[in-house]
Amino acid sequence: MERIVLAYSGGLDTSVAIPWLAETYGAEVVAVTMDLGQGENLDFARERALATGAASAHVVDVREEFAAGYILPALQAGALYEDRYPLATALGRPLIAKTLVEIAHREGAGAIAHGCTGKGNDQVRLDVSARALDPAIKVYAPARVWGMTRSDEIEYARARSIPVPVTRESPYSTDENLWGRSIECGILEDPWAEAPEDAFALTRSGRGCPDVPAYLELAFESGVPVAVNGVRMPLTELIHSVATIAGVHGVGRIDMVENRLVGIKSREVYEAPAAVVLHAAHRELESLVVPRDLVRLKRELGVRYADLVYNGLWFTPMRQAIDAFVATMQPQVTGEVRLRLSRGDCRVAGRRSPFALYDHSLATYEKGDTFDHAAAEGFIKLWGLPVETVARQSALLARAGASAVAAPRQATESAPLGVAGGCVGRCA
Ligand code: ARG
Repeated sequence: MERIVLAYSGGLDTSVAIPWLAETYGAEVVAVTMDLGQGENLDFARERALATGAASAHVVDVREEFAAGYILPALQAGALYEDRYPLATALGRPLIAKTLVEIAHREGAGAIAHGCTGKGNDQVRLDVSARALDPAIKVYAPARVWGMTRSDEIEYARARSIPVPVTRESPYSTDENLWGRSIECGILEDPWAEAPEDAFALTRSGRGCPDVPAYLELAFESGVPVAVNGVRMPLTELIHSVATIAGVHGVGRIDMVENRLVGIKSREVYEAPAAVVLHAAHRELESLVVPRDLVRLKRELGVRYADLVYNGLWFTPMRQAIDAFVATMQPQVTGEVRLRLSRGDCRVAGRRSPFALYDHSLATYEKGDTFDHAAAEGFIKLWGLPVETVARQSALLARAGASAVAAPRQATESAPLGVAGGCVGRCA
């Protein structure tokens, strides 16, 4: 009998997927529920999966692996899709695929399955990641093929006496993990309509925020955030605690129209309080300690990194290569960043590092200035030399142009190539 390892959330789609996969493929379904820090109690999921007909059911806590192996590299790479989306959902998918494939191997299953529909990016990320890890594995996506509406699904479950999950139907489709929350559908499909307050769960609205701003001091060691306001904590806990403080101050709301891989522009709303703060802090520290050209190059690669994460290409040599590049400059990214959080706004107030390339004696306008002012003169002379050369030529060009207008015939006769030939003034 075929075995299928299904990513099981406990919701209606994946609950219906259990009997559907079993009946359609004559298979035994192994349900796997993963804790990526979505802040839900997942104990119910195992029971429900078994009650719905799963042959076995597992709940796996992957929070630490998610933080260390997925969130951290994306943070260090500065990966913000289309400048803004910190990729919470997108980063979770390769880990979900990896966990499914590992369990499939352990359980002797030849296939995995997930609840994605055919319109989003998540199906691409899961399918491609699974095939990267095991090119022979089969991937089933029942919701992509069964063509059932929500009420068809309820009907399907009732007909089989399967418990229908009694979730209050939300007007939105959401996905949440440790790095943030994605909100889609409902009124949000109108890009002109402001996101209503009930779309948000992790961040307060500006009006509900405390009057007094909060100062947050984040310490980094070799590119890893290690302490908040002087208190050291493991990464998962740190992300959680930054999210709590930032959320109270309304920081981390993102509202954008983004380009999906499948060719659609879609309006997306995100809440990513920890990601917004940590990206701002990490980037700031890097500006302090990384040389100019390297910062520029890194920012370019950060764009590529965000694209590849978004597009489901996590398990690729390209991602590994950018990781290796980013790793070369993380040892210096050690120090502290102080941020001011106030009514949805997150601003850097200060930064310091033992590896700072900022040198007060070079930067100061006060006493103790060691900058060689006299050297500036020669430097500027050579720096401006090409500009000066162009300026001289332009003056000549303008004069030649003026006389060509004044006596066009004569100009063409005496200089057959003319201005159009590119030879003006002294030609070789
Ligand atoms: N637009 C985001 C992305 O592509 C969020 C997707 C949300 N997924 C979901 N199943 N609700 O990463």
